[in-house]
Parts: sequence; structure tokens; C-alpha cells
Amino acid sequence: MARFLVTGGAGYVGSHIVLALLDDGHEVVVLDNLRTGHRAAVPAQATFIQADLADLESLNAILANGPWDGVYHFAALSLVGESMQDPMLYMAANAGIGFGLIDACIKHGIKRFVFSSTAALFGTAGSAPIDEDTPINPASPYGESKYMVERALYWADRIHGLKSACLRYFNAAGSDPQGRAGEDHQPETHLIPLVIDAALKRRPPLTLFGTDYPTPDGTCVRDYVHVSDLARAHLAVLPLLNERSVTFNIGTGRGHSNREIIDSVARVTGLDVPWAAGPRRPGDPPYLVASPARLMAATGWQPEFAHIDKIVETVFAWRNQHPHGYSS
Ligand code: UFG
Repeated sequence: MARFLVTGGAGYVGSHIVLALLDDGHEVVVLDNLRTGHRAAVPAQATFIQADLADLESLNAILANGPWDGVYHFAALSLVGESMQDPMLYMAANAGIGFGLIDACIKHGIKRFVFSSTAALFGTAGSAPIDEDTPINPASPYGESKYMVERALYWADRIHGLKSACLRYFNAAGSDPQGRAGEDHQPETHLIPLVIDAALKRRPPLTLFGTDYPTPDGTCVRDYVHVSDLARAHLAVLPLLNERSVTFNIGTGRGHSNREIIDSVARVTGLDVPWAAGPRRPGDPPYLVASPARLMAATGWQPEFAHIDKIVETVFAWRNQHPHGYSS
């Protein structure tokens, strides 16, 4: 059994990693300011501390209360569109706060750091699966802010020996298959939950942001990776960090256009999905599909939710049970 600090552990991806760590028999302390996270997303077996990472006094007190086998860092702002309107908010909240956390980890002798990074740092990378050698070219301040933390971690290893895993998620989707956690963003901006809510008539028809992209059906293509598969990858990388720092792209290697997501939701729910074409959303790259080959080779990781309908099924199940998210 090991003991981990998880920042942002009350958020969407963080809460699923907390479940995976607990399922694996570890001790987990969640640190979250609950600005976007949910107290109800943190299982009773985890210790919960409501604190803000900007509060360095609290952070240092928590880190001093070791021993720690590693820190998982999820706490961040994560909306591409919002970052295009308020870039400095993202520089401060993601990069600035990330630097402070890394510095505190170094001072407290933390040896392993797992960072929630993003495919958004590749920007408009073309139309081939994206591996780790694809040039970095963020199309949004969100992607840039995550890349800045990756660079800080590079130097934290070179100078202080802090070993890190930068895990660049493509589109995290789905919810815990046992129904213990799900996706509850306020406001919701992600495609799959919005399509499901449009099908359930809980929202107006979906607006498809851009139907004139240079893709087969004119809509953007994304690589949806189930959040529980992501969670398994977060555990699989840990042994590597005893030796070296690593960077991995995490997706299934398969892309689905926005139109195909609408089709999947219609298949899974048996409902019509009302939608209308709208203008492009600034900052959206046309095509983001991972090459997860390096992660697979290093850890043996494989996605269990390889078919998009299986991912959509878990979202549909959670939304049916939680029509108002965690407050249901
Ligand atoms: N979309 C619509 N209509 C909507 C909402 C979304 O057409 O109402 C489209 C978007 O324009 C995009 C696609 O659906 O083409 C997926 O959009 P999401 O907002 O679900 O996801 P993003 O690809 O924008 O971003 C997500 C995460 C980021 C992460 C990125 C990496 O939110 O944090 O995946 O691929 F960086």
C-alpha cells in the first residue's frame, strides 16, 4: 500500500483516479478547492482537505504531513473556449499554480509526480495520429499553460531529480462503470454529455460548432478515451518513475467525428438527437487522435472501452441516475 496526494481529486478525471487508487489498496488524500469539483465525488475512504493550491501555507502544511509515495496533479481549469477569452486566467491558474506546487514538492522531498496534461498542446497537428514526437504547437492558452507545466517538470527532474509522468489525455469521456462517479461540469461544455442531454430534451438542440472543417464529414475529429482506462494508465506509469521521467499520449488511437458522436448517442439511447449547424468555436483543432503506442509498449496498457458506444453507454447510465449531476 502506498500513500498519495491527489490535487483536484473532486473533479471529473481526478475523482476517477482516486477510485482506481483506492481500488488498488492505496491511501489517498484529496486536496480540492471545490470551485469546479464536487465534495460528493470524493469517496468516504479518501481523506478530503478543502484548500486552494494558491494557499502555499496550507499546501506546505499538507506536504509536511508525509510520508508521500507521490503526488497526482489534476487541479486546473480545462476549457479551451474560456482560455481563448481570458488567457491570463489560464496562465495563472494552470501554469503559475503548477509551478508553486512543483516547487513545494521539491522542498518536501516528493520523488514522483503525475501530471494531468492534454492533447490540446499539439494544436492543429494535421490528420495523422499524434505521437510524442509530434511538434508542440498549442492552439489555445489552455494548451500552452499545460505545456508550461510540462517544461517546469523537465527542469525539476534535471536539477532536483523529481521524476514525473506527463500524461496527455485526448478526450476524456465516460463515467465509472460501477456508477460511483461521473461527469458533472457547470456549465457543461463537453460534447458527449451535451448530445445526450439534447437527446433527452433536457437542453435545446445541440449546436455543432463548425461543419466545414477539412475532415471527412466536415466536423472535428476527436479520440475519446474512457476515464477508467485513463485511471488505469495513471497506476501503470508509477513503477517507471522509480527510474525516469516519462511523457505519454493517451487515447485509443481511433478518431470519431462530432457527427459520429451524435450517431453513437442515437444508437445507444434509441432517441433522436436534435442538432443544428453553427459557427466554429475558436481554438478548436480539426483533428486530434492519439498514437498511444509508446504508453502501450512501456506499460502494456490497453483501453478496455475500445468502442465509442461502450463509452457513451456509461455516460448515459450516469446521467439517467443523476439528472442534476452530483446534486441529484
Ligand atoms: N462541440 C460542439 N458543440 C458543443 C460542444 C462541443 O460541436 O456544444 C464540439 C467541439 O467544437 C469539438 C468537439 O465537440 O469539436 C469536442 O469538444 P469538447 O468540448 O467535448 O472537447 P475538446 O476537444 O474541446 O477538449 C477536450 C477537453 C480539453 C482537452 C481536449 C484534448 O475539454 O481539456 O479535449 O483533446 F484538452
